[in-house]
Amino acid sequence: MARVLQIEDDPNNRRLVQKLLGAAGHEVIEAEGGVEGLRLAREMLPDLVLVDINIPDLDGYEVTLRLRGMPALKDVPIVAITAEADRDSTLAVGCDGFIAKPIDATHFAETIDRFLQGHREWTDDETEFLLRERTQKIVEHLEKKIVELSETNKRLEDVARLRREFLQNVSHELATPMTPVVGYLRLLLNEELGPLTDLQRKCLGSVETSTQRLRSVVDTLLDVSSLETGQMHYYARAYDFGEVAVSALAQMRPKFEERDVTLVERIPDVPLRAQGDPDKLLRAMIHVLDNASKFTPIGGQVAVEVRPEGDAHLLFSVADSGPGVRPEHIARIMEPFYQVDGSVTREQGGVGLGLAFARRVTEALGGGIEISSPPAGEVAERQLSGTLVELRVDRAPDRPETPSP
Ligand SMILES: Nc1ncnc2c1ncn2[C@@H]1O[C@H](COP(=O)(O)OP(=O)(O)OP(=O)(O)O)[C@@H](O)[C@H]1O
Ligand SMILES: [Mg+2]
Repeated sequence: MARVLQIEDDPNNRRLVQKLLGAAGHEVIEAEGGVEGLRLAREMLPDLVLVDINIPDLDGYEVTLRLRGMPALKDVPIVAITAEADRDSTLAVGCDGFIAKPIDATHFAETIDRFLQGHREWTDDETEFLLRERTQKIVEHLEKKIVELSETNKRLEDVARLRREFLQNVSHELATPMTPVVGYLRLLLNEELGPLTDLQRKCLGSVETSTQRLRSVVDTLLDVSSLETGQMHYYARAYDFGEVAVSALAQMRPKFEERDVTLVERIPDVPLRAQGDPDKLLRAMIHVLDNASKFTPIGGQVAVEVRPEGDAHLLFSVADSGPGVRPEHIARIMEPFYQVDGSVTREQGGVGLGLAFARRVTEALGGGIEISSPPAGEVAERQLSGTLVELRVDRAPDRPETPSP
């Protein structure tokens, strides 16, 4: 009885070889790819190796070269099972023999026995041997790199999973205690728990402002977490794109005033019908306006324009006179947590989720986000020098609405 290592990715071929060699009294150990085959060969020191040429990661030639470079396997026969055309190449890399596919079931076990008894199909050739030795070194290096890469890859996948879980846990842990804080604050401010002095009202007012800010960060964390885990739910209802923009601007206006930023707006007074989730779109617009306000220096300018783009899309454009974003950062600032300059945001607040959120939301609404710096064109007839962010969504067809069932 011999122990045969079979390196083959096709389960049908593996089964056939198992059956034929099992019946002849041999034990067959299986590997599905080159790297796994090499590992098993080192561990089990087989009596014979059967190798297919087209296998994942390292192919049959590379596996053979590598096996031939291992002193412990010097005398172990390696037999390639592959197409007739590969015969010379398989012998050149160091195989002792060759079995053509499809396998001839009647003589297979017999052929294997002959190799086990010392039959070899090659003749000694010194130059070929030297060449093979060189190539073995290259493949040895290649194998190490593949193993390293697949380990790194696994680690990176683990890190990404841990990050997703962390985000999910943290956002829930933060969101839960927010509910009573917001609730009691409302009760206090409404004087349902007794009258307030002016000083108390002023203090509670600033507690409320901070709470709102905290809450908006937690909401964004929750949103991004559900986006990353694929659990984000979108409503699909008819809404007016212009109205959403107007309400985003209304919410952000005090912030622009606070920083003495001039706001130029152009929002057409016609219905701009769309279909989707207006609440999430509102949050996406607020994020873009928030960036424009916080990255534009005091006394700067921000231009906002809403318009249809052809028949298919609606556009919300925000340009600012801020410092701009360098080209190498443009794609990256749409990734979660990426911030160009941590110091600015430490001053102004922010965790780096606004654009990631806006991007995912607009993509889910049939459009996307585009950033150019300096702005690729005019917004509300102004050519500003900083950054232009455009949010694009699908337009609903212009026909009378059919009531949804
Ligand atoms: N209008 C802008 N001008 C200059 N830089 C910008 C602008 N908008 C975004 N950025 C850069 O992109 C980064 C990512 O923006 P994003 O809105 O995703 O996060 P944030 O504003 O830092 O935090 P958050 O939005 O979560 O409060 C910012 O930190 C900033 O470096
Ligand atoms: Mg932001």
